[in-house]
Amino acid sequence: MKGRASYQCRECGAQSAQWAGRCDGCGAWNAIFEVGGASGGPVAAKQAVLLSNVTCEDVQRWTSGLDELDRVLGGGVVPGSVILLGGDPGIGKSTILIQALARMSRELPALYVTGEESAAQVALRAQRLALSAPQLKLLAETNVETIIAQARQERPRVMVIDSIQTIYVPMLSQAPGSVTQVREAAAALVRFAKDTNTALFLVGHVTKEGQLAGPRVLEHMVDAVLYFEGDSGSRYRLIRAIKNRFGAVNELGVFVMTEGGLREVNNPSALFLRQDAENAPGSVILVTQEGTRPLLVEVQALIDESPSANPRRVALGLDSQRLGMLLALLHRHGGQGTYRQDVFVNVVGGVRVTETAADLAVLLACVSSLTDKAVGRDLVVFGEVGLAGEMRPVPRGQERLREAAKLGFKRAIVPAANVPKRGVDIGLEVFGVKQLSEALERFRSQ
Ligand code: TYD
Ligand code: MG
Repeated sequence: MKGRASYQCRECGAQSAQWAGRCDGCGAWNAIFEVGGASGGPVAAKQAVLLSNVTCEDVQRWTSGLDELDRVLGGGVVPGSVILLGGDPGIGKSTILIQALARMSRELPALYVTGEESAAQVALRAQRLALSAPQLKLLAETNVETIIAQARQERPRVMVIDSIQTIYVPMLSQAPGSVTQVREAAAALVRFAKDTNTALFLVGHVTKEGQLAGPRVLEHMVDAVLYFEGDSGSRYRLIRAIKNRFGAVNELGVFVMTEGGLREVNNPSALFLRQDAENAPGSVILVTQEGTRPLLVEVQALIDESPSANPRRVALGLDSQRLGMLLALLHRHGGQGTYRQDVFVNVVGGVRVTETAADLAVLLACVSSLTDKAVGRDLVVFGEVGLAGEMRPVPRGQERLREAAKLGFKRAIVPAANVPKRGVDIGLEVFGVKQLSEALERFRSQ
Protein backbone atom coordinates (compact mmCIF):
# COMPACT_ATOMS: atom_id res chain seq x y z
CA MET A 1 0.00 0.00 0.00
CA LYS A 2 1.17 3.48 -0.76
CA GLY A 3 2.12 5.70 2.09
CA ARG A 4 -0.03 8.76 2.72
CA ALA A 5 0.82 11.51 0.27
CA SER A 6 1.88 14.64 2.03
CA TYR A 7 2.63 16.87 -0.97
CA GLN A 8 0.30 18.03 -3.64
CA CYS A 9 0.47 19.95 -6.90
CA ARG A 10 -1.42 23.23 -6.92
CA GLU A 11 -2.06 22.87 -10.65
CA CYS A 12 -3.16 19.32 -11.23
CA GLY A 13 -3.68 18.00 -7.72
CA ALA A 14 -1.24 15.12 -8.16
CA GLN A 15 -0.01 13.80 -4.84
CA SER A 16 3.45 12.64 -3.89
CA ALA A 17 5.30 11.53 -0.83
CA GLN A 18 8.20 13.91 -1.48
CA TRP A 19 8.58 17.51 -2.40
CA ALA A 20 9.89 18.26 -5.88
CA GLY A 21 10.53 21.43 -7.84
CA ARG A 22 8.59 20.18 -10.81
CA CYS A 23 5.38 18.24 -10.72
CA ASP A 24 5.59 14.76 -12.19
CA GLY A 25 1.98 14.86 -13.12
CA CYS A 26 1.65 18.07 -15.15
CA GLY A 27 5.16 19.43 -15.35
CA ALA A 28 4.38 22.67 -13.55
CA TRP A 29 7.26 24.28 -11.68
CA ASN A 30 7.08 25.40 -8.07
CA ALA A 31 3.58 24.16 -7.72
CA ILE A 32 4.13 21.47 -5.11
CA PHE A 33 3.07 22.33 -1.59
CA GLU A 34 2.91 20.42 1.61
CA VAL A 35 -0.55 19.20 2.39
CA GLY A 36 -1.77 20.62 5.65
CA GLY A 37 1.67 22.08 6.27
CA ALA A 38 2.59 25.71 6.75
CA SER A 39 4.37 25.94 3.45
CA GLY A 40 2.35 28.86 2.24
CA GLY A 41 0.33 26.80 -0.22
CA PRO A 42 -3.42 26.64 0.00
CA VAL A 43 -4.67 24.74 2.97
CA ALA A 44 -5.53 21.29 1.80
CA ALA A 45 -9.24 20.86 1.75
CA LYS A 46 -10.91 17.57 2.43
CA GLN A 47 -10.12 15.23 -0.43
CA ALA A 48 -12.80 14.04 -2.75
CA VAL A 49 -13.04 10.29 -2.72
CA LEU A 50 -14.41 7.74 -5.10
CA LEU A 51 -17.96 6.82 -4.26
CA SER A 52 -17.09 3.18 -4.71
CA ASN A 53 -14.32 3.47 -2.15
CA VAL A 54 -16.52 4.81 0.56
CA THR A 55 -17.31 2.13 3.07
CA CYS A 56 -20.57 2.74 4.77
CA GLU A 57 -21.51 0.77 7.74
CA ASP A 58 -25.24 0.47 7.97
CA VAL A 59 -26.63 3.62 9.43
CA GLN A 60 -26.97 3.06 13.13
CA ARG A 61 -30.38 3.78 14.57
CA TRP A 62 -31.79 4.03 18.04
CA THR A 63 -35.33 3.08 18.82
CA SER A 64 -37.53 5.77 20.29
CA GLY A 65 -39.56 3.08 22.01
CA LEU A 66 -42.51 3.97 19.77
CA ASP A 67 -42.61 1.81 16.65
CA GLU A 68 -44.82 4.26 14.83
CA LEU A 69 -42.36 7.10 15.42
CA ASP A 70 -39.43 4.91 14.43
CA ARG A 71 -41.18 4.00 11.22
CA VAL A 72 -41.82 7.61 10.26
CA LEU A 73 -38.15 8.30 10.90
CA GLY A 74 -37.17 5.49 8.57
CA GLY A 75 -36.42 2.89 11.23
CA GLY A 76 -35.33 4.83 14.29
CA VAL A 77 -33.36 7.85 15.38
CA VAL A 78 -30.06 8.34 13.53
CA PRO A 79 -27.18 9.63 15.69
CA GLY A 80 -26.29 13.19 14.76
CA SER A 81 -29.52 13.76 12.89
CA VAL A 82 -31.66 16.81 13.46
CA ILE A 83 -35.41 16.31 13.40
CA LEU A 84 -37.95 19.11 13.32
CA LEU A 85 -41.29 18.17 14.86
CA GLY A 86 -44.01 20.65 13.94
CA GLY A 87 -47.65 20.85 14.87
CA ASP A 88 -50.42 22.92 16.41
CA PRO A 89 -50.15 23.88 20.05
CA GLY A 90 -51.68 21.18 22.25
CA ILE A 91 -51.49 18.41 19.69
CA GLY A 92 -48.99 16.32 21.64
CA LYS A 93 -45.46 17.32 20.64
CA SER A 94 -44.15 17.63 24.19
CA THR A 95 -45.96 14.47 25.19
CA ILE A 96 -44.50 12.26 22.50
CA LEU A 97 -40.99 13.62 22.95
CA ILE A 98 -40.92 13.16 26.71
CA GLN A 99 -42.17 9.61 26.14
CA ALA A 100 -39.50 8.92 23.53
CA LEU A 101 -36.73 10.57 25.51
CA ALA A 102 -37.63 8.76 28.70
CA ARG A 103 -37.35 5.48 26.84
CA MET A 104 -34.10 6.42 25.10
CA SER A 105 -32.56 7.65 28.35
CA ARG A 106 -32.46 4.05 29.55
CA GLU A 107 -29.64 3.38 27.11
CA LEU A 108 -28.31 6.80 26.18
CA PRO A 109 -27.54 10.04 27.99
CA ALA A 110 -30.55 12.22 27.19
CA LEU A 111 -31.31 15.89 27.77
CA TYR A 112 -34.71 17.58 27.55
CA VAL A 113 -34.46 21.34 27.22
CA THR A 114 -37.69 23.14 27.98
CA GLY A 115 -38.15 26.77 27.12
CA GLU A 116 -41.88 26.74 27.47
CA GLU A 117 -42.62 25.01 30.68
CA SER A 118 -40.75 24.88 33.95
CA ALA A 119 -38.78 21.79 34.86
CA ALA A 120 -41.48 21.08 37.46
CA GLN A 121 -44.19 21.09 34.81
CA VAL A 122 -42.26 18.69 32.64
CA ALA A 123 -41.58 16.47 35.63
CA LEU A 124 -45.26 16.51 36.49
CA ARG A 125 -46.16 15.38 32.99
CA ALA A 126 -43.57 12.61 33.13
CA GLN A 127 -45.05 11.52 36.43
CA ARG A 128 -48.58 11.56 35.06
CA LEU A 129 -47.39 9.42 32.21
CA ALA A 130 -45.76 7.06 34.72
CA LEU A 131 -42.48 7.28 32.86
CA SER A 132 -39.54 5.70 34.52
CA ALA A 133 -36.52 7.70 33.49
CA PRO A 134 -34.02 8.03 36.30
CA GLN A 135 -31.27 9.07 33.88
CA LEU A 136 -33.19 11.71 31.95
CA LYS A 137 -31.89 15.24 32.49
CA LEU A 138 -34.02 18.36 32.29
CA LEU A 139 -32.89 21.88 31.60
CA ALA A 140 -35.23 24.88 31.73
CA GLU A 141 -33.37 27.44 29.67
CA THR A 142 -33.90 29.66 26.66
CA ASN A 143 -30.47 31.16 26.04
CA VAL A 144 -28.91 29.12 23.26
CA GLU A 145 -25.37 29.72 24.50
CA THR A 146 -26.17 28.45 27.96
CA ILE A 147 -27.96 25.47 26.47
CA ILE A 148 -25.00 24.53 24.31
CA ALA A 149 -22.53 25.09 27.17
CA GLN A 150 -24.63 22.83 29.41
CA ALA A 151 -24.98 20.26 26.67
CA ARG A 152 -21.22 20.20 26.16
CA GLN A 153 -20.91 19.29 29.82
CA GLU A 154 -23.71 16.78 29.94
CA ARG A 155 -22.76 15.18 26.62
CA PRO A 156 -26.19 13.83 25.75
CA ARG A 157 -26.50 11.55 22.73
CA VAL A 158 -30.07 12.61 22.23
CA MET A 159 -31.57 15.97 23.03
CA VAL A 160 -34.91 17.76 22.71
CA ILE A 161 -35.44 21.50 22.38
CA ASP A 162 -39.04 22.36 23.27
CA SER A 163 -39.65 24.68 21.53
CA ILE A 164 -37.29 26.36 19.11
CA GLN A 165 -39.50 29.46 19.14
CA THR A 166 -38.61 30.16 22.76
CA ILE A 167 -34.84 29.93 22.28
CA TYR A 168 -32.82 33.07 21.66
CA VAL A 169 -29.31 34.08 20.72
CA PRO A 170 -28.24 36.80 23.19
CA MET A 171 -26.18 38.70 20.62
CA LEU A 172 -29.22 39.40 18.48
CA SER A 173 -31.58 42.21 19.30
CA GLN A 174 -34.72 40.61 17.84
CA ALA A 175 -37.33 39.08 20.09
CA PRO A 176 -37.36 35.32 20.66
CA GLY A 177 -39.66 33.69 18.15
CA SER A 178 -38.76 36.12 15.36
CA VAL A 179 -37.52 34.56 12.17
CA THR A 180 -33.93 35.72 12.72
CA GLN A 181 -33.81 34.40 16.28
CA VAL A 182 -35.35 31.08 15.39
CA ARG A 183 -33.05 30.62 12.42
CA GLU A 184 -29.86 31.56 14.24
CA ALA A 185 -30.70 29.61 17.39
CA ALA A 186 -31.50 26.57 15.28
CA ALA A 187 -28.32 27.00 13.26
CA ALA A 188 -26.23 27.00 16.44
CA LEU A 189 -28.01 23.92 17.75
CA VAL A 190 -27.68 22.10 14.44
CA ARG A 191 -23.93 22.83 14.43
CA PHE A 192 -23.71 21.48 17.95
CA ALA A 193 -25.58 18.32 16.96
CA LYS A 194 -23.37 17.72 13.94
CA ASP A 195 -20.15 18.45 15.86
CA THR A 196 -20.99 16.09 18.64
CA ASN A 197 -23.04 13.51 16.73
CA THR A 198 -25.99 14.17 19.02
CA ALA A 199 -29.47 13.37 17.77
CA LEU A 200 -31.55 16.51 18.15
CA PHE A 201 -35.31 17.03 18.11
CA LEU A 202 -36.50 20.58 17.59
CA VAL A 203 -40.13 21.28 18.45
CA GLY A 204 -41.74 23.96 16.29
CA HIS A 205 -45.20 25.42 16.65
CA VAL A 206 -47.26 25.83 13.57
CA THR A 207 -49.33 28.90 12.92
CA LYS A 208 -52.90 28.83 11.71
CA GLU A 209 -51.74 29.03 8.12
CA GLY A 210 -50.19 25.63 8.64
CA GLN A 211 -46.61 26.78 8.51
CA LEU A 212 -44.01 26.66 11.18
CA ALA A 213 -44.22 30.14 12.62
CA GLY A 214 -41.55 31.99 10.72
CA PRO A 215 -39.16 29.10 10.43
CA ARG A 216 -40.14 27.48 7.19
CA VAL A 217 -36.47 28.39 6.95
CA LEU A 218 -35.73 25.58 9.36
CA GLU A 219 -36.89 22.89 7.01
CA HIS A 220 -33.78 22.96 4.86
CA MET A 221 -31.43 23.06 7.85
CA VAL A 222 -32.60 19.81 9.35
CA ASP A 223 -32.44 16.17 8.26
CA ALA A 224 -36.06 15.32 8.82
CA VAL A 225 -39.28 17.29 9.12
CA LEU A 226 -42.20 15.65 10.85
CA TYR A 227 -45.63 17.16 11.19
CA PHE A 228 -48.29 16.25 13.68
CA GLU A 229 -51.77 16.19 12.20
CA GLY A 230 -55.14 15.56 13.72
CA ASP A 231 -58.43 17.08 14.63
CA SER A 232 -58.68 18.81 17.97
CA GLY A 233 -62.01 17.03 18.35
CA SER A 234 -60.53 13.61 17.77
CA ARG A 235 -58.11 11.60 19.85
CA TYR A 236 -56.20 10.36 16.86
CA ARG A 237 -52.91 11.88 15.93
CA LEU A 238 -50.87 11.37 12.81
CA ILE A 239 -47.21 12.10 12.34
CA ARG A 240 -46.09 12.52 8.77
CA ALA A 241 -42.55 12.85 7.46
CA ILE A 242 -42.51 15.55 4.81
CA LYS A 243 -38.75 15.45 4.50
CA ASN A 244 -36.39 12.71 5.54
CA ARG A 245 -32.77 12.29 4.62
CA PHE A 246 -32.76 8.88 6.27
CA GLY A 247 -36.00 7.38 5.06
CA ALA A 248 -39.06 7.71 2.90
CA VAL A 249 -41.32 10.70 3.01
CA ASN A 250 -45.06 10.65 3.44
CA GLU A 251 -44.75 7.76 5.85
CA LEU A 252 -47.48 8.06 8.45
CA GLY A 253 -47.33 7.20 12.12
CA VAL A 254 -50.67 6.81 13.84
CA PHE A 255 -51.31 7.41 17.53
CA VAL A 256 -54.17 7.84 19.87
CA MET A 257 -54.04 10.33 22.74
CA THR A 258 -55.01 8.65 25.98
CA GLU A 259 -54.90 9.51 29.66
CA GLY A 260 -51.54 7.81 29.73
CA GLY A 261 -50.05 9.75 26.82
CA LEU A 262 -49.78 8.81 23.17
CA ARG A 263 -50.31 5.17 22.29
CA GLU A 264 -49.48 3.66 18.96
CA VAL A 265 -52.09 2.35 16.59
CA ASN A 266 -50.50 -0.44 14.65
CA ASN A 267 -53.40 -1.29 12.42
CA PRO A 268 -54.92 2.00 11.46
CA SER A 269 -56.48 1.36 8.07
CA ALA A 270 -60.05 1.54 9.33
CA LEU A 271 -59.43 4.08 12.03
CA PHE A 272 -61.07 7.01 10.34
CA LEU A 273 -64.21 5.25 9.21
CA ARG A 274 -67.30 5.86 11.25
CA GLN A 275 -68.79 2.45 11.80
CA ASP A 276 -72.26 3.74 12.56
CA ALA A 277 -72.34 6.15 9.66
CA GLU A 278 -75.47 6.13 7.59
CA ASN A 279 -75.71 6.46 3.87
CA ALA A 280 -75.56 10.23 3.52
CA PRO A 281 -75.23 12.03 0.20
CA GLY A 282 -71.88 13.70 -0.34
CA SER A 283 -69.80 11.08 1.39
CA VAL A 284 -67.38 8.70 -0.34
CA ILE A 285 -64.83 6.25 1.06
CA LEU A 286 -61.36 6.65 -0.39
CA VAL A 287 -58.54 4.14 -0.09
CA THR A 288 -55.51 6.32 0.22
CA GLN A 289 -51.99 5.03 0.48
CA GLU A 290 -49.91 7.15 2.75
CA GLY A 291 -46.37 5.90 2.88
CA THR A 292 -46.35 2.14 2.97
CA ARG A 293 -49.82 1.53 4.35
CA PRO A 294 -53.29 1.90 2.91
CA LEU A 295 -55.68 4.01 4.91
CA LEU A 296 -59.42 4.29 4.38
CA VAL A 297 -60.82 7.74 4.84
CA GLU A 298 -64.13 9.42 4.22
CA VAL A 299 -64.23 12.33 1.81
CA GLN A 300 -67.24 14.58 2.26
CA ALA A 301 -68.56 17.29 0.01
CA LEU A 302 -71.24 19.85 0.56
CA ILE A 303 -72.37 21.82 -2.45
CA ASP A 304 -75.00 24.42 -1.97
CA GLU A 305 -76.46 27.51 -3.62
CA SER A 306 -74.12 30.41 -2.94
CA PRO A 307 -75.49 33.67 -1.59
CA SER A 308 -72.43 35.41 -2.96
CA ALA A 309 -71.42 36.44 -6.44
CA ASN A 310 -68.09 34.83 -5.64
CA PRO A 311 -68.90 31.29 -4.57
CA ARG A 312 -66.53 29.70 -2.10
CA ARG A 313 -64.29 26.70 -2.69
CA VAL A 314 -63.02 25.29 0.57
CA ALA A 315 -60.89 22.16 0.84
CA LEU A 316 -60.00 20.81 4.27
CA GLY A 317 -57.37 18.10 4.32
CA LEU A 318 -57.01 18.36 0.55
CA ASP A 319 -55.27 20.62 -1.92
CA SER A 320 -57.60 23.53 -2.67
CA GLN A 321 -55.93 24.33 -6.00
CA ARG A 322 -56.64 20.81 -7.09
CA LEU A 323 -60.26 21.14 -5.99
CA GLY A 324 -60.64 24.06 -8.39
CA MET A 325 -59.23 21.94 -11.18
CA LEU A 326 -61.50 19.02 -10.36
CA LEU A 327 -64.58 21.25 -10.40
CA ALA A 328 -63.60 22.47 -13.86
CA LEU A 329 -63.21 18.84 -14.94
CA LEU A 330 -66.61 18.03 -13.53
CA HIS A 331 -68.17 20.73 -15.66
CA ARG A 332 -66.31 19.84 -18.82
CA HIS A 333 -66.39 16.05 -18.63
CA GLY A 334 -69.28 15.42 -16.29
CA GLY A 335 -71.68 18.11 -17.43
CA GLN A 336 -72.14 19.45 -13.88
CA GLY A 337 -71.34 23.10 -13.33
CA THR A 338 -70.85 24.53 -9.85
CA TYR A 339 -70.42 28.17 -10.76
CA ARG A 340 -73.28 29.38 -8.60
CA GLN A 341 -72.59 27.07 -5.70
CA ASP A 342 -70.34 27.07 -2.69
CA VAL A 343 -68.23 23.92 -2.55
CA PHE A 344 -66.87 22.52 0.69
CA VAL A 345 -64.80 19.36 0.73
CA ASN A 346 -63.45 17.74 3.87
CA VAL A 347 -61.52 14.63 4.85
CA VAL A 348 -63.08 13.29 8.04
CA GLY A 349 -60.87 12.97 11.11
CA GLY A 350 -58.37 15.72 10.34
CA VAL A 351 -56.35 13.55 7.99
CA ARG A 352 -54.51 15.31 5.18
CA VAL A 353 -54.56 13.51 1.88
CA THR A 354 -51.76 14.71 -0.36
CA GLU A 355 -51.97 12.24 -3.21
CA THR A 356 -53.84 12.69 -6.47
CA ALA A 357 -55.47 9.30 -5.99
CA ALA A 358 -58.13 11.25 -4.08
CA ASP A 359 -59.42 12.91 -7.28
CA LEU A 360 -62.15 10.42 -8.04
CA ALA A 361 -63.39 10.37 -4.45
CA VAL A 362 -63.61 14.17 -4.38
CA LEU A 363 -65.51 14.25 -7.66
CA LEU A 364 -67.94 11.51 -6.68
CA ALA A 365 -68.54 13.17 -3.31
CA CYS A 366 -69.33 16.41 -5.15
CA VAL A 367 -71.70 14.73 -7.59
CA SER A 368 -73.32 12.84 -4.74
CA SER A 369 -73.94 16.09 -2.88
CA LEU A 370 -75.15 17.90 -6.01
CA THR A 371 -77.60 15.18 -6.91
CA ASP A 372 -78.51 14.37 -3.31
CA LYS A 373 -77.91 10.72 -4.04
CA ALA A 374 -75.90 8.71 -1.54
CA VAL A 375 -73.01 6.46 -2.45
CA GLY A 376 -73.34 2.96 -1.04
CA ARG A 377 -71.40 2.35 2.16
CA ASP A 378 -69.98 -0.85 0.69
CA LEU A 379 -68.17 1.05 -2.06
CA VAL A 380 -64.62 2.38 -2.11
CA VAL A 381 -62.91 4.43 -4.79
CA PHE A 382 -59.54 5.80 -5.75
CA GLY A 383 -57.98 7.18 -8.91
CA GLU A 384 -56.37 10.21 -10.43
CA VAL A 385 -58.27 12.18 -13.06
CA GLY A 386 -56.34 13.84 -15.88
CA LEU A 387 -57.29 17.12 -17.53
CA ALA A 388 -58.74 15.29 -20.51
CA GLY A 389 -61.12 13.48 -18.17
CA GLU A 390 -59.11 10.27 -18.38
CA MET A 391 -58.71 8.02 -15.38
CA ARG A 392 -55.10 7.47 -14.44
CA PRO A 393 -53.80 4.55 -12.44
CA VAL A 394 -52.31 5.15 -9.01
CA PRO A 395 -49.50 3.27 -7.25
CA ARG A 396 -50.21 0.10 -5.29
CA GLY A 397 -53.72 -0.42 -6.57
CA GLN A 398 -53.86 -4.09 -5.55
CA GLU A 399 -52.78 -3.36 -2.02
CA ARG A 400 -55.52 -0.76 -1.69
CA LEU A 401 -58.14 -3.14 -3.02
CA ARG A 402 -57.01 -5.94 -0.71
CA GLU A 403 -57.23 -3.69 2.32
CA ALA A 404 -60.74 -2.57 1.36
CA ALA A 405 -61.80 -6.19 0.89
CA LYS A 406 -60.30 -7.09 4.25
CA LEU A 407 -62.40 -4.41 5.90
CA GLY A 408 -65.56 -5.81 4.38
CA PHE A 409 -66.16 -3.50 1.44
CA LYS A 410 -67.88 -5.14 -1.51
CA ARG A 411 -67.42 -2.87 -4.51
CA ALA A 412 -64.76 -0.56 -5.88
CA ILE A 413 -64.59 1.98 -8.69
CA VAL A 414 -60.98 2.41 -9.79
CA PRO A 415 -58.99 3.31 -12.91
CA ALA A 416 -59.11 0.46 -15.45
CA ALA A 417 -55.34 0.11 -15.29
CA ASN A 418 -55.56 -0.62 -11.56
CA VAL A 419 -57.88 -3.59 -11.98
CA PRO A 420 -55.99 -6.75 -10.97
CA LYS A 421 -54.92 -8.38 -14.24
CA ARG A 422 -55.26 -12.03 -13.60
CA GLY A 423 -58.65 -11.65 -12.05
CA VAL A 424 -57.36 -12.25 -8.54
CA ASP A 425 -60.32 -13.08 -6.41
CA ILE A 426 -60.17 -10.74 -3.48
CA GLY A 427 -63.84 -10.85 -2.71
CA LEU A 428 -64.42 -7.41 -4.14
CA GLU A 429 -66.33 -6.44 -7.24
CA VAL A 430 -63.95 -4.10 -9.03
CA PHE A 431 -65.23 -1.73 -11.72
CA GLY A 432 -62.43 -0.44 -13.88
CA VAL A 433 -63.14 2.87 -15.63
CA LYS A 434 -61.16 4.63 -18.34
CA GLN A 435 -62.94 7.97 -18.27
CA LEU A 436 -64.43 10.16 -15.58
CA SER A 437 -67.73 10.01 -17.46
CA GLU A 438 -67.74 6.21 -17.06
CA ALA A 439 -67.17 6.53 -13.33
CA LEU A 440 -70.06 8.97 -13.05
CA GLU A 441 -72.22 6.59 -15.04
CA ARG A 442 -71.32 3.79 -12.61
CA PHE A 443 -72.26 5.97 -9.71
CA ARG A 444 -75.61 6.97 -11.21
CA SER A 445 -76.58 3.40 -12.02
CA GLN A 446 -75.54 1.90 -8.69
P1 TYD B 1 -48.77 18.56 24.59
O1 TYD B 1 -47.84 17.43 24.38
O2 TYD B 1 -48.50 19.47 25.73
O3 TYD B 1 -48.92 19.43 23.26
P2 TYD B 1 -47.86 20.37 22.51
O4 TYD B 1 -46.53 20.18 23.15
O5 TYD B 1 -47.93 19.91 21.09
O6 TYD B 1 -48.36 21.76 22.64
O7 TYD B 1 -50.22 17.91 24.69
C1 TYD B 1 -51.18 18.61 25.30
C2 TYD B 1 -52.53 17.95 25.18
O8 TYD B 1 -52.52 16.56 25.29
C3 TYD B 1 -53.35 18.49 26.28
O9 TYD B 1 -54.53 19.02 25.70
C4 TYD B 1 -53.63 17.35 27.17
C5 TYD B 1 -53.43 16.16 26.32
N1 TYD B 1 -52.84 15.03 27.04
C6 TYD B 1 -53.58 13.87 27.20
O10 TYD B 1 -54.72 13.77 26.78
N2 TYD B 1 -53.02 12.82 27.87
C7 TYD B 1 -51.77 12.88 28.38
O11 TYD B 1 -51.30 11.90 28.97
C8 TYD B 1 -51.02 14.08 28.21
C9 TYD B 1 -49.65 14.22 28.77
C10 TYD B 1 -51.59 15.12 27.53
MG1 MG C 1 -45.49 21.58 24.31
